[in-house]
Amino acid sequence: MTRTSAALAGRHALVTGASSGLGADFARELARRGAALTVVARREDRLRSLQRELADAHGVEVEVVALDLNQAGAPDRLLADAQARRRPVDVLVNNAGFGLYGPFSELDWVRERAMLELDVIVPVHLTKLFLPGMLERRRGWVLNVASIGAYQPSPLYASYSAAKSFILNFTEALSYELRGSGVVATAVSPGVVATEFLQVAGQRPTRYQRLARMDSPSVARIAVDAMLKGRPSLVPGRLNAASVWSNRLLPRRASAALAHRLMV
Ligand SMILES: NC(=O)c1ccc[n+]([C@@H]2O[C@H](COP(=O)([O-])OP(=O)(O)OC[C@H]3O[C@@H](n4cnc5c(N)ncnc54)[C@H](OP(=O)(O)O)[C@@H]3O)[C@@H](O)[C@H]2O)c1
Repeated sequence: MTRTSAALAGRHALVTGASSGLGADFARELARRGAALTVVARREDRLRSLQRELADAHGVEVEVVALDLNQAGAPDRLLADAQARRRPVDVLVNNAGFGLYGPFSELDWVRERAMLELDVIVPVHLTKLFLPGMLERRRGWVLNVASIGAYQPSPLYASYSAAKSFILNFTEALSYELRGSGVVATAVSPGVVATEFLQVAGQRPTRYQRLARMDSPSVARIAVDAMLKGRPSLVPGRLNAASVWSNRLLPRRASAALAHRLMV
């Protein structure tokens, strides 16, 4: 496995949820290191302006796919698209996702179900579709975006944080299965990042969230570095890493109480 940025030059990366926040910054980070891109999200205008920005700044090819990943067959369409263009995907960034804030009993089921599908089923399905090609070529990277919420029960984000626990465990287990294959799976578990996440989730930032917030370009850079080093998992930022570590020492009920306190 090549551990440096040079490994990405001329490779093809597919980034889901690239129209804002972390996804756009993953695309910038990968383009900066010379990767050609396919960027996916629903808002095509945003993807087009990212395409122009990256082509101007780095001279890389950027394919725009305006697609609702919650639509049936969306992951298959992305695979068919890559095959039709004869551009195998070397880097898969499963980033598209959203959270829903509020008491579980009050969340709308249609929205919640869409969230669970986008945050869990879609990344697993895309990994299932793109991994065989990577294994055949004995080269590839899968970067899955979990969350610091994956490490503890998180009241008011109960089903979102449970979905991210799934992604964290899935990715770490997959990473182990892939050892020696030339393919890497990495889970990144950010804390609060300045993106559109809270607005979409329907939460006004708490004092803790304003203080602990990281900027999205730094998180993307840290995550891509960890992916290239073949790390199974990482929590960006010292404060976040310390909080995950100290959480392990708490009884789970106390951990849930602490998470609740930070969210209101
Ligand atoms: N920000 C944080 O504090 C934080 C912390 C931990 C983990 N995360 C995770 O980081 C990832 C990126 O989120 P973000 O913070 O960058 O939030 P964001 O700014 O809201 O970006 C979310 C991205 O997902 C895309 N998306 C949403 N629904 C989609 C759908 N049905 N089909 C295709 N694309 C869809 C959005 O694009 P369109 O609306 O154009 O479709 C957008 O590009 C998520 O998995 C999130 O759970 C965020």
